[in-house]
Amino acid sequence: MLSPTSVLLQVRAATAVQHRTLEARLPLTSPDLDQCTYARIIEAYYGFHAPLHDQIAKFSGASADPERHKIPALIKDLYALGLNGEQINALPLCTRLPAIDSEAQLLGVMYVMEGATLGGQVLRRLIAARLGIDADSGGEFLDVYGRDTGRLWKAFLKQLAAFDHPAYNSDVVDAACETFACFEHWLDRAGVLL
Ligand code: HEM
Repeated sequence: MLSPTSVLLQVRAATAVQHRTLEARLPLTSPDLDQCTYARIIEAYYGFHAPLHDQIAKFSGASADPERHKIPALIKDLYALGLNGEQINALPLCTRLPAIDSEAQLLGVMYVMEGATLGGQVLRRLIAARLGIDADSGGEFLDVYGRDTGRLWKAFLKQLAAFDHPAYNSDVVDAACETFACFEHWLDRAGVLL
């Protein structure tokens, strides 16, 4: 049983509205979604995830988790959706990213980016049904961890619970809120939100 002051419950409560807002604004669940809009969303996802991944790797150094790699899946999807290497290299990259200068901030950022793999499980099925897109035709990122999704999420929650400390929990919460805010701002600027 989680205590009401646990860092997980705090971060979940603090980001609930941002999650709901982004979910409602992303046209991924819209009945009008077409392949062109889907491709633009994946391009914008790449523009956020690629520099954020570099930032996480820079902070984590040798302790970076080799299993939590998402960029190869995004690149595979971009090729499958019709872009070539030159076009992928020319995609705009986000420069307003959440700061990662402490483990608390890293965990806050990871909460958002790792939690998104749970929603990916729902979206993967939706995109397959609506657009006929599967892992080999542009939908690899939505199922980036495949059958390891649950295991990796539980491992992350364990890491978060081990860190839990009243002195640092607000840094985790702030970093998670900032991550949602930066991502929404980036997607908005890319023109892919409703
Ligand atoms: C249309 C888009 C989205 C849908 C339909 C969606 C849906 C979901 C669903 C069904 C869950 C799992 C809830 C559970 O198993 O308890 C979830 C969890 C989560 N999603 Fe999303 N999501 C979407 C977009 C996003 C985005 C873009 C992000 C962040 C970049 C995100 C971050 C999270 C987080 C952090 C959690 C974990 C919540 C927790 O258990 O504490 N989601 N989402």
